[in-house]
Amino acid sequence: MNRPARLVVLVSGSGTNLQALLDACTDPAYGARVVAVGADRDGIEGLARAERAGIPTFARSVSDFETREGWDAAMTTLVERFEPDVVVSAGFMKLLSTDFLAKFLTLNTHPALCPAFPGMHGPRDALEHGVKVTGATLFVVDAGVDTGPIVAQVPVEVAEDDDVDSLHERIKTAERAMLVDAVGRIAREGITVDGRRVRIGTSAR
Ligand code: GRF
Repeated sequence: MNRPARLVVLVSGSGTNLQALLDACTDPAYGARVVAVGADRDGIEGLARAERAGIPTFARSVSDFETREGWDAAMTTLVERFEPDVVVSAGFMKLLSTDFLAKFLTLNTHPALCPAFPGMHGPRDALEHGVKVTGATLFVVDAGVDTGPIVAQVPVEVAEDDDVDSLHERIKTAERAMLVDAVGRIAREGITVDGRRVRIGTSAR
């Protein structure tokens, strides 16, 4: 494909992973561009980062809808308008519906080495378990919680004096580099998902 891959990025918070993608996309050789940023809440730094970069944004809270299904359908319609090649859930704290996942190749980044420590508290759970190495995982989102086929992983050593914040910050530094590298390679070289096996570069997008 000789046009840049179209990325829609979903965020719920500070958006440093989004910022890493925005920065990478300023280089035409990267092969991707962020065409929209979506959120499940207003007033977050992730949306402000997109606005400063001149990228369209949308935000819908589950509480604005009578049912969760209503929110799911609205998010699907909003994302569809931007015709993404890939949706990147980068610190997006909501599960996406099976309809959404059937429509879009959706990647999520998780601050632990899957399948260890799924859920909302990857760094805390790794620290409490006493592991010496944790890290971050980029995976293709499926119907489970942090269970999808793994695209990329990066290890991060746990320091003896780490607390949850210091460990998470170090994971996030490695996580951003992993995300930027993998998304760029997917944009330029394609991705094949065969059951649980993911390969980058073996097919065109
Ligand atoms: C990341 O560590 C992500 O994996 C986790 O929340 C963090 C989001 O960070 N789910 P940011 O919003 O990209 O700064």
